[in-house]
Amino acid sequence: MKITFSPRHALGQADRMLYGHFLEHFHRQIYGGVYDPASRFADEDGFRADVIEALRRIKTPIIRWPGGCYVSAYDWRAGVGRERIPTYDKAWRVEESNAFGTDEFVRLCRKIGCEPYICTNAGTGTAQDMSDWVEYCNLRSMGRFARERIANGSPEPHGVKFWSIGNENWGGHEIGAKDAAEWGRLVRESAKMMLRVDPTIQLSAASIDDLDWNLSLLRAAGQYLDWISLHGYWNGSPDGVTYNDYRTVMLRTGEEISGAINRARAYLTALGLEGKIRVAYDEWNLRGWYHPNVIDIWNRDAKRHEDDTFYREQVIGPRDRNDSNAIYTMADAVFSGAFLNTCLRNCDLVKMACFSPVVNTRGAIFTHRDGIVLRPQFFVFELYANLLKETVLDCWTEGAPRMSGLVDGHERTVDTVDAVVTCGEGGYAIAALNKDPAAEQTLALALLDDVGREVRIHTLNGPSPDAYNDIGRTEVGVTVSDWQPFGGMVPLPPHSVNVIEIR
Ligand code: AHR
Repeated sequence: MKITFSPRHALGQADRMLYGHFLEHFHRQIYGGVYDPASRFADEDGFRADVIEALRRIKTPIIRWPGGCYVSAYDWRAGVGRERIPTYDKAWRVEESNAFGTDEFVRLCRKIGCEPYICTNAGTGTAQDMSDWVEYCNLRSMGRFARERIANGSPEPHGVKFWSIGNENWGGHEIGAKDAAEWGRLVRESAKMMLRVDPTIQLSAASIDDLDWNLSLLRAAGQYLDWISLHGYWNGSPDGVTYNDYRTVMLRTGEEISGAINRARAYLTALGLEGKIRVAYDEWNLRGWYHPNVIDIWNRDAKRHEDDTFYREQVIGPRDRNDSNAIYTMADAVFSGAFLNTCLRNCDLVKMACFSPVVNTRGAIFTHRDGIVLRPQFFVFELYANLLKETVLDCWTEGAPRMSGLVDGHERTVDTVDAVVTCGEGGYAIAALNKDPAAEQTLALALLDDVGREVRIHTLNGPSPDAYNDIGRTEVGVTVSDWQPFGGMVPLPPHSVNVIEIR
C-alpha cells in the first residue's frame, strides 16, 4: 500500500488527552490496583509506586474516576474526611471501604502528572450533590465544602478542570436511568449549578450513539457543555472465557468504530454545535468487562448476603476471570491501535479518550504480589503517547489491501493496513498497523520532500496473533531499528503495531 502526504495538508491537531484512562471502583482496579497500602510497592500514601511509574512511562494525560456504573449511586461525601464509614455499593453489590476517595484520587493524579476527571452521580444524585462536589474541589475557602476540604488537609483547591454529568444514564443497566427528556433537563440544571460554582470547568454529559438522546440533550443543555461522552466495548464474553478470534476482532476495526463518531459529528453539525462541543470517548476497550448476575433477578430466592453460595460463586467469583492475562493478545493491541487511529483521523472532533480501565479488569496493566504485567495494550500507549506528533496530516492512499468476512452474521470489510501520519517538531511519526494474521505488508511512503531523510521503526509484536504476556512470560514487546536512510518502503510484520519515525 502506498500513502502520499505533505506537511501542507493537515487534518487537525491531535489532543494528547486521546491517550487517557479510566479507573472505577470495581474488582481490583482501586483496592489491589492503584491503592494497596499492604503491598511492598506501596508508597507513603499507599499507592502502588510501580503502577505510578508505568502510568508516567506512557505519559498518562488524564484519568476519569470513580465510575462507570459505580458512580450512579455514589455519595462522594462518604469518601472524604477523617472517618471513612464503609458503604454498600449497590452498583457492584460489594462493600466499599471509602478509604480511597476524592482527596486520594487527586493526590494520585498529581503523582502521575495527569489531570483528574471526575464523573458525577446523575443516577441517584442531584444538581445540588454535583455542584457541592465542585465546591469541595475547586472553591478556595467559601462555604461549607471548601472549608471541609481544608479541614481534611488540602488547604489549596484541587482545581479539577474536567467534570462529567452522569454515566450511561440512558441504559436500563444503570442505577437512576433517565429518558431523553428527563436527561436534558437534569443535565441543564446540574450544569447551571456546577458552572455557578466554577465557570472555568469543562463539562461533559453522558451520551450515546442515538439521535433522539442527543437532540434532547443538546437542545436542552448544549449551551452549557464542552463535551459529550461516548462509550464503546466491542467484544464481550458470555462466560468470561469465550471471545472472538483474532481475525474476527480485526473485522470489527472499521465502521464499528468510526460509525458512532461520524454520527456524533452529524448530530453536532445539525445543531450548529460543531467546533463548540467535542467528543470524549471516555470509556473504550475492545473487551467488555465480565461481571455476570449483577442483577440476579432470575434467582430471587437466593439470599443476598456474602454467605450465599450463589452470590459468592456466581456473582463475585466470576469477576476474577477478567484477570486472566492470556485473554489479552495482539488482537487487543492492534484493535487499540485501530481505535486510536480512527480518533486521530477525527482529531478535530474527538479530543479525549479514556481506556477502560487502566489497571486490572481489562486494563493495560495487571498487578500482582510481586510486581506488574504489561499487557499488549500498554505498549500501544507507550508508542503513541511518546512518539506521535501533534499535527495529523491528510494522506492519499493507493493499493490498499482489504480483509472481509462475517461478524455476527454481518458482512464486514476493513483495510488490512491502517496508517495515520503525524508531523511536528523534528519531522514525522506514522502509526501503521498490519492487521493481517499471517502475511507481511509493505507500506510505501511518498513524502513530497523526502530529500536526505532518515527513518527509525518501532514495532510492537509477538510470535503469533494470540501472543500475550503474563507473570514470568514476556512474549509481546517493542523492538526498535537503528536510524537508516529513508528508502520509502517499510515492511510491516503480520499482526503488528508500528510507529515509523522520519527525521
Ligand atoms: O462493565 C463496566 C461498565 O461498562 C462501566 O461501569 C459502565 O460505565 C459501562 O457500561
